Amino acid sequence: MPLTFTLGPAVTPALRDGLLDLWADVSNAGGAVGFVSPVAREDLRPELVKHFAAMSEGRTRLLVGHDEEGQVAATAFLTLNTHRLMTHWLWLYTVMVHPRHQGKGYGRDLLAAAADAARTLDGIEAIRLTCRGGLGLERFYASCGYKEVGRVPGAIRVAPGDDRDDVIMLLPLG
Ligand SMILES: CC(C)(COP(=O)(O)OP(=O)(O)OC[C@H]1O[C@@H](n2cnc3c(N)ncnc32)[C@H](O)[C@@H]1OP(=O)(O)O)[C@@H](O)C(=O)NCCC(=O)NCCS
Repeated sequence: MPLTFTLGPAVTPALRDGLLDLWADVSNAGGAVGFVSPVAREDLRPELVKHFAAMSEGRTRLLVGHDEEGQVAATAFLTLNTHRLMTHWLWLYTVMVHPRHQGKGYGRDLLAAAADAARTLDGIEAIRLTCRGGLGLERFYASCGYKEVGRVPGAIRVAPGDDRDDVIMLLPLG
């Protein structure tokens, strides 16, 4: 069963809790979404609140995928630039699929839905994101049409002595 994607859903307590559970489960399974395992829901809440604040200011749109049981199973946040010379592209943040659903093509569906969503926004011509090196994520994004356009060596310190590249990926929207 494919996921059902919604752009800009109403933020209910159930959605908020579903997002925190997803983010915690993904992080604790080794996912590269801003944190390193072990992480608790309460560690994530301030970051989610930042996304919500940007949503209320109209700078960010949440794309959420629900599974057939109605559980939050995937997310991405589309964030417009505030810089006046960079309003023709947006950032994609917090791309994740729940560990129990990974490897079924849902990640690719999520990024296709994100590209469709970006195309509906006035004047948006490209999607940019960064990912942590060393996990093969570049290959995932490449399979979704993204190209590596930059790499900052060792910019992400996941642990003392374990620095990873910050890889910049770009999808021009044709
Ligand atoms: C990365 C992620 C979103 C991919 O979602 P998914 O549903 O597992 O991916 P899909 O099943 O759609 O896979 C699509 C393609 O990418 C490949 N792929 C998926 N995850 C990969 C990974 N971590 N490394 C290398 N390739 C990967 C798949 O093999 C598949 O390629 P194929 O068609 O040649 O077989 C998901 O694994 C995830 O949430 N990971 C943890 C969070 C994370 O690290 N997010 C990235 C933030 S930058």
